[in-house]
Amino acid sequence: MRTDYCGRLSVDDIGRTVTVCGWVSKRREHGEFLAFVDLRDRTGIIQCVVDHAHDIRSEYVLAVTGTIRERPPETINHELPTGAIEIGEATVEILSEAEPTPFQLSGRVEVDETIRIRHRYLDLRTDRMQRNLRSRALINAAIRRAMDAQEFVEVETPMLIASTPEGARDFVVPSRLNPGNFYALPQSPQLFKQLCMVGGIDRYYQIARCMRDEDLRADRQFEFTQLDMEMSFVDGQEVRAVVSQAVAEAAELITGHKPSAIPEMSWLEAMNRYGSDKPDIRFDLELVDLTEIFSETDFNAFKAPCIKGIRVEGGGETGRNKLDQLTDKAKTWGAKGLVWIKVGESGEVSSPVAKFMSDAEIAGLIDKLGAGNGDICYLVADEWRRAVHVLGLLRLELGRPPVNEGGFHFLWVIDFPLFEDIDDAGNPVPAHHPFTMPHLEDLELLAASGEDPSVLLDVRSQAYDLVLNGWELGSGSVRIHSRDIQQQIFDLLGIGEEESQRKFGFLMDAFRYGAPPHAGFAFGIDRLVALLVGEENIREVIAFPKSQSGTDPLTEAPTPIDSAQLDELGLRLLPPAN
Ligand code: AMO
Ligand code: AMP
Repeated sequence: MRTDYCGRLSVDDIGRTVTVCGWVSKRREHGEFLAFVDLRDRTGIIQCVVDHAHDIRSEYVLAVTGTIRERPPETINHELPTGAIEIGEATVEILSEAEPTPFQLSGRVEVDETIRIRHRYLDLRTDRMQRNLRSRALINAAIRRAMDAQEFVEVETPMLIASTPEGARDFVVPSRLNPGNFYALPQSPQLFKQLCMVGGIDRYYQIARCMRDEDLRADRQFEFTQLDMEMSFVDGQEVRAVVSQAVAEAAELITGHKPSAIPEMSWLEAMNRYGSDKPDIRFDLELVDLTEIFSETDFNAFKAPCIKGIRVEGGGETGRNKLDQLTDKAKTWGAKGLVWIKVGESGEVSSPVAKFMSDAEIAGLIDKLGAGNGDICYLVADEWRRAVHVLGLLRLELGRPPVNEGGFHFLWVIDFPLFEDIDDAGNPVPAHHPFTMPHLEDLELLAASGEDPSVLLDVRSQAYDLVLNGWELGSGSVRIHSRDIQQQIFDLLGIGEEESQRKFGFLMDAFRYGAPPHAGFAFGIDRLVALLVGEENIREVIAFPKSQSGTDPLTEAPTPIDSAQLDELGLRLLPPAN
C-alpha cells in the first residue's frame, strides 16, 4: 500500500512522489482551501498538505499520495526530524474512520492509568509506548544473541506444573480430566532447569514467563518475564560472567556505550555501607558505624548493640517539620527513634538530645561522620539489622536520584546468608530458595544447629544478586546437587521426608542418577527494560499489564465462569466471604 514510512522521508526525497500510510496525529486549517495533516506511523510523523474538502479527523487511518517538497524556511519545524519537508498537493484515501479517542495520544497531558490500560491499543500508539516496546524487543534480541553466542540451548519448560517454591503464592489451574486436582503455573522454571542439567543440556536458557500471586508494586506484576539460565560444572563466578555479558550487551544497545565491568560486594558490606542488600550506588551518603563511640554512654536510648549514622552535606537548613516527618517515617520503618545533630555555620552543635551526650561522644561522632559546618547527621541505635535497615531507607529517602538520572550502576552482591530469619515456629527462612548450596566451610554450622538454631543465621550461601540502581534485577546460586545435603536443608526448613518426597520427589529422584554440579541465575527482563528506558513502573514496558489491583481493565479479567464449566471441573464455589 505504501512506498515509504513517514519518519524516514528526508530532503533527499524532494521531488519524489510517495505514498505513506498511517494515523492522523494532528490537523490544522491553512486558509480556506487547504489543511495541514500530520500523519504518523511507527517511524515518525510527516506533514501533508491536503485539500480542505476532505473530512479528516484525528486518528483517521489514511493513505496519502503526493510529492515531497521543501518547506518555506520560516515554516521549518526543528523539533521534527522530517520538519524541513512536507508532502505537497496530497491526495487522500480514508482507510478507516475513528471516533474521538478517550484521551489525547500526543502531548504531555497525564492520563489516568486505568483509562490508558483499558484502551491499551490506543495507548500503544503513543511515542512512549512505541519506544518502550521497541526497546524491549531490542533488549530481548540482544540477550538471545549473547546467550546463543555462548552456546546456550533455549529450552521451553512447561506452564502447567506442580508447584515451584519461590516464596509467592501459586496461580492454580483446575484439571478437568483429574477432578479435584490442580496444576500450578510456574513461579519460575527453577526445578526444570535443574533437571535439564541432570539431562546433560549443560548450558540452558529461556526467556521465560513466570507467574506469582503476590501483591503488585511498581516493580512487580503477576506475570513477568525472566532471562532464566543454568550451567553445569561451573562456579558462581562463571555464571556471573555470562550474565554480565548478556546484560552489558542489552545496556549497550539502549545507552550506546558498554557498561564497565560489574563490581562485586559482599552482602555484609552492602548492609553495613548502604543498609540494603540492593544498594543504589549512584550516590554516596554511606552508613557509618558509631557503636564504639557510644560504648559507655549515659544516654539511655543509645544503650544498644549497634549505632549507625549518616551525614548529609549542607543538610543543616532542614526545618523542624521535615525533621519530625523523617522521625515519623523512621518509626514506621521500625526504628525506636531518630536522632539528628546539626553543625552550625560556626561549628556550634545543636540537637534536642545533645544534653544527654558527652562532649567526647559528640566530638567523636562528628569526626567519624566527617561532619562539617552546615551539615546534619542522623543516628539510629538498635540491633544491627534494624539499625542498618532504617538508615538504609533514610539514605534513599534523602539522596536517591530520579530513575532516569545518574547513569547505570550495576553491582553483584555475593555471599548472601543462607537464611534470612528464624520464624516463630523456630524454622529458618531461606534467603533465596531451598535449592541453594551453602558455603562448604559453613556446612559444620548446619550440623551444629541442633543445639543452637541461631547459628543458622551465620551460614553463608553461594547465592548472588544482580542489582541495578537500587533495584534487584536478578538472583541466582550454586545449587545443591546431593540428595543428602538437599534433605538436610529440607529438614532444617521443617519440610519432612514425606512432604519433600511429595513435592520434590522428582528432583530428589533425579539426583540418584548422576547430577552434575550446577549453578544458575535469572533476572527480570521487565525490570531491566524499565530502568534502561527510564521508567519507574514495569507496567510501562509491558504491552498489556494488569492494573495495581491485579485486574485487567481491558479484558476485565478475572471474570466469573459459568456453572457448566464449574461442573466440568468438579468445582463448587463458596459464597463470597465478607
Ligand atoms: P527470583 O525469585 O529472585 O529468582 O526472581 C528472579 C528475578 O525475577 C524478577 N521478578 C519479578 N519481576 C516482576 N514481577 C514479579 N512479580 C517478579 N518476581 C521476580 C526479579 C527477580 O530478581 N529461580 C530463581 C532464579 C535462580 O535461582 O536461578 C528465581 O526465580 O527481577
Ligand atoms: P526518648 O528517650 O524515647 O524520649 O527519645 C529521645 C530522643 O532520642 C528522641 O528524639 C528519639 O527520636 C530519639 N531516639 C530514641 N530511641 C532512639 C534510637 N533507638 N535510635 C535513635 N534515636 C532514638
